[in-house]
Amino acid sequence: MKGIVLAGGAGTRLYPSARGISKHLMPIYDKPMIYYPISTLIQAGVVEILIVTTPADNANFVRLLGDGSQIGCSFEYAVQKQPNGLAEAFILGEDFIGTDQVALILGDNLFHGKGFDEHLADSTDPKGGVVFAYSVPDPRRYGVVELDESGSALNIEEKPERPRSDLAVVGLYLYDNSVIEVAKSITPSHRGQIEITDVNLEYLRRGQLDVKVLDRGVVWLDTGTVDSLSDASDFIRVLEGRSGLKIGCIEEVAWRRELVSSSDLRRLAEPLRSSGYGDYLLSLLRH
Ligand code: G1P
Repeated sequence: MKGIVLAGGAGTRLYPSARGISKHLMPIYDKPMIYYPISTLIQAGVVEILIVTTPADNANFVRLLGDGSQIGCSFEYAVQKQPNGLAEAFILGEDFIGTDQVALILGDNLFHGKGFDEHLADSTDPKGGVVFAYSVPDPRRYGVVELDESGSALNIEEKPERPRSDLAVVGLYLYDNSVIEVAKSITPSHRGQIEITDVNLEYLRRGQLDVKVLDRGVVWLDTGTVDSLSDASDFIRVLEGRSGLKIGCIEEVAWRRELVSSSDLRRLAEPLRSSGYGDYLLSLLRH
């Protein structure tokens, strides 16, 4: 399975901060936002990753993440010229995806918690589409899915005025290879975007959309507004401080998945020592 991290968009909900730098490069506590979705993909065993950025920010992502080989992955880059919608990623990424299945994760979504890794690992061979739903107090900000008693999806609506449930569709989507054709067939919405919700509706029409409800042990944060970004930083600071373990640490995840050796990890840690991040990586080798 290939992976795509969508890190485009203007980030206007974070202005003026996001005027000079992509929000996905901003820190959530001790590391750049994009580390979290990348670590989620690596944890799921997805190591060939396409990072979609705005034209202006592309070089900064390359400087931060390189070609991925330092952590046993392969990173490629694509540019989204205009914010034409999440599902444009499958059209921009057509050659990259080739004949494989693909997972799309939004660059400002953060997942953590017990059970999440298993859910994800169970979903990496989708026969159609797999999406995840999460109960939220403010569903109108999201794609909202309505389920029947057996848990099958009845309907999905993008940012509905009157949501039919409190289940938001989170920013992590897994599809079979036909998603490229599905994305190409979609007419842009009134806001000029190729909506991911329309992709999901097409899979629903085909009877091929699996909706998995994430339970309360899983934390899902999207971090695209001033308050949610600050909340996410606080959350990570408290959890990391209490447990002594980092969340979203791509070097650690790669090492635990044996994509890099212990001597590679030591080499990666050296230039990161003055922030404490490198010392953390070195401490992993001692335990
Ligand atoms: C997008 C999707 C929406 C989904 C959300 C998750 O919304 O369109 O369906 O629930 O991501 O973060 P946006 O972030 O573009 O408002």
